[in-house]
Amino acid sequence: AEIMKGNFDHFMQKEIYEQPESVVNTMRGRVNFDNHQVTLGGLRNYLPIIRRGRRIVFSGCGTSYHSCIATRAIFEELTEIPVSVELASDFLDRKTPIFRDDICVFLSQSGETADTILAMRYCLERGALCLGVVNTVGSTISRETHCGVHINAGPEIGVASTKAYTSQFIALLMIALVLSEDRISLTERRNQIIDGLHALPAQLTKVLAGDNALQQLATGTLASSRSLLILGRGLQYATCLEGALKIKEISYMHSEGILAGELKHGPLALIDENMPVIIIMTRDSLYPKVQSAFAQITARKAQPIVICNEDDEGIPKDVRTIRVPKTVDCLQGLLNIVPLQLLSYHLAINNGFDVDFPRNLAKSVTTE
Ligand code: AGP
Repeated sequence: AEIMKGNFDHFMQKEIYEQPESVVNTMRGRVNFDNHQVTLGGLRNYLPIIRRGRRIVFSGCGTSYHSCIATRAIFEELTEIPVSVELASDFLDRKTPIFRDDICVFLSQSGETADTILAMRYCLERGALCLGVVNTVGSTISRETHCGVHINAGPEIGVASTKAYTSQFIALLMIALVLSEDRISLTERRNQIIDGLHALPAQLTKVLAGDNALQQLATGTLASSRSLLILGRGLQYATCLEGALKIKEISYMHSEGILAGELKHGPLALIDENMPVIIIMTRDSLYPKVQSAFAQITARKAQPIVICNEDDEGIPKDVRTIRVPKTVDCLQGLLNIVPLQLLSYHLAINNGFDVDFPRNLAKSVTTE
């Protein structure tokens, strides 16, 4: 195990740092950056059926579920097929109606998560077309689904999922790109996304270079915090949920991802000068709305830490920022999650916690 960790102290750290390469491995042989084409051999024979589907249902647990939330909007935009996202356990509890013309996509790093396997079998029994998006070749979900995509992120050992998230995100995006390849009206949008994917590895490397500042943040004011709210909306809502999950599971600090649009419906009551808040404000079409959330919380004396684009001049000078490069709106979450992964890592390390094996948790949850 020591050898496998290379120069890193923990698997989680190694896996966070691997992301500039693991995302390339997910795209290798699939995304052609010269002619802007995407091919997925694992779906080839099923594309006509998928395109005819009346709806698509994404399902998974934990981080895998968050990758579904993260890509739902771009998936709907490119395919024009309604997508619903289900937590696998809740999906089973509800006994959701599933039909023969449904397309069900199961997300799982391990391919062995009990709830996700049971949700998959439930859909198989009802005659739906089932796709697996998994990291582990030969796993139960990989074997039992009709078709699918391996994310090829390489083995993930740390209990906290990091590189699997960014690779699942890209895998779902690639599926949407393949499904939309014959839509002429979307050519420009698709090319923009594929160019963005091309630039991604170097941008991830740039975000990782900001690790020292995050370490300082974790040893500074946040070190003694009992709670941390992560605010955002639209495409960044998934980033908030996933960042909060990372912080909870390895640093044992209460953290909550909050949709900024919901602030006034309750969470605003939590805000005062003592409540630590991170707000995701990278530039996209919802920026003005997030600015208004920023104003609402600063009016209540919170001193938010802002995740924003590196060249953003619009953030008040006295505000603490975490700066990330700008990419296409639907890819921005791939960059924005990295500082939160690093922050959760440092918060845990500061407290002397075992980041690779957090208490009470297993890497793969094989019982219901
Ligand atoms: C993520 O950091 C967690 N350890 C956990 O939520 C995990 O994503 C979940 O259990 C699903 O696992 P899977 O992707 O292997 O199905």
